[in-house]
Amino acid sequence: MARKSIGTIIVDEDHSPNPTQFSFVLTKAEDEFRMQKGMFIIVPSEEGEVISVVNEVFKTNRYFSSPSAVRAYETSGKTLASIFPADRWEYIIAKAKPLGIITETGIQRLMYPVSPGETVYSPDKQTLTRFLGLQSTKGLNLGVIGQHELEVRLNLTRFLQKHAAILAISGAGKSYTVSVVIEELLLRKKEEGRVAIVLFDVHGEYKGMADDKSPFASSIEVFPAALIEFATNSLSGRQFAIYQPQMSSVQTRELSKITSKLYKEKTKQGITYTIEDILKEIEKDDQINPRSKEALLGWLYSLKGTRLFGQIENPNLENILKPGKLIIFDLSELTSLKLKQMIVSYILFRIFDLRKKQLVPPTTIILEEAHQFASESKLEMAIARPIIETIAREGRKFFTSLILVSQRPVKLSTTALSQCNTHIIMKILNPYDLDYIGKSSEGIDKATLGSITSLGVGEAVIVGNAVNHPISVKIRKRKTTTMETKNLEESAKSFDK
Ligand SMILES: Nc1ncnc2c1ncn2[C@@H]1O[C@H](COP(=O)(O)OP(=O)(O)OP(=O)(O)O)[C@@H](O)[C@H]1O
Ligand SMILES: [Mg+2]
Repeated sequence: MARKSIGTIIVDEDHSPNPTQFSFVLTKAEDEFRMQKGMFIIVPSEEGEVISVVNEVFKTNRYFSSPSAVRAYETSGKTLASIFPADRWEYIIAKAKPLGIITETGIQRLMYPVSPGETVYSPDKQTLTRFLGLQSTKGLNLGVIGQHELEVRLNLTRFLQKHAAILAISGAGKSYTVSVVIEELLLRKKEEGRVAIVLFDVHGEYKGMADDKSPFASSIEVFPAALIEFATNSLSGRQFAIYQPQMSSVQTRELSKITSKLYKEKTKQGITYTIEDILKEIEKDDQINPRSKEALLGWLYSLKGTRLFGQIENPNLENILKPGKLIIFDLSELTSLKLKQMIVSYILFRIFDLRKKQLVPPTTIILEEAHQFASESKLEMAIARPIIETIAREGRKFFTSLILVSQRPVKLSTTALSQCNTHIIMKILNPYDLDYIGKSSEGIDKATLGSITSLGVGEAVIVGNAVNHPISVKIRKRKTTTMETKNLEESAKSFDK
């Protein structure tokens, strides 16, 4: 679409154009109904082409500007419109905020106001794509900027070299957006660079992506929680203390002595051992203070009861993480939050370690219900938080990125959220969440924040590192048809045969 003239800059009642604000009247009827907040426009100026964003749209009509005159006519029994050609004097006026002058290398700050009488254009797609920092081909196609019919193709590095967060109330379309992001990552060709993807599926809603009829089935493996086992002999005393945060430092030290001993005696010789062996070692160790011994036995028996600590790691993370492949850990059958947190903690810990040693490809980890795992609550209730925060801080250097998905941003660790440089924000109503997002999202302005409460299902605002300016996106339809959720009627009918 080539650029098209849509309006003319005016001097309105409030003020004349200044470097931070100007108004324009739409000159063509067909553009009037399309003009919306958030649209980008271009105005030529002496300094160059000024790109601006529309932040207010209103209708005006001089005939109705005097309340006393309107009242006088209307009480006389005639309408104003029947006497005067009032409908022909209705205009759409838009206010816009200049963002800068488009240059070859980016944008430059505007020093002077644009001139009254100057023509306003809608930008061509190429200019807009470049200005927003999107890609015209390739890139992750998440949907369109409706007003401009522009595809939103995010650059992989800008989006996922650091971390991202998808935030919204329940039912706004977070998981749907996740499935679109996954599809785009799986569709990438080898030569475009592919990451390994790991998803923690708390509600078991992504299994459908791996259904035989799904076009992505061959790229996805699902592991139910019941199959997951940790390699006990890879865990140090300190790591056990992560799963049992009430363990005192003295107890942790005693346990570390025992795990080091076992490491020397067994792991080094290639022999695996279980939590059972650790328990036996503690029991026969007569140098530990009896109270510590008792406590340690208590902690480890309770860990043994989780049945997560096995001989070898299952699934073997080093073997299953592959470029262009998605691994789903289905945690939906677990009711214990602690078990879910332990699994997330172990797997994240291992992935990060394997990445540091370059034994697995760059990996993107998607965490649904992230506020349950990286919550600001006490460490006993947030076992996975330390490793999530570590990856949030240091993951970038090792190409380990996080996508945190949450409906309660306020409960998410500030450290983790502040490292999410791209935010995909969908409908949010809670004022505390909105306030928190306003403080933690890079480059989000008041107007964008204000638009979040009125977003529809499947509509998102993207801000931060992946884009040069906040954009409103209609998330595209997903290609997977095997993931549809049933509505209440369908679900009830399937039980009522
Ligand atoms: N982009 C979209 N296009 C079409 N339909 C969508 C889109 N996004 C969401 N929906 C619809 O809205 C429903 C709810 O979306 P979704 O399950 O992704 O919400 P959610 O934000 O993950 O909610 P929760 O917090 O409860 O998990 C979906 O079942 C789907 O029908
Ligand atoms: Mg969801």
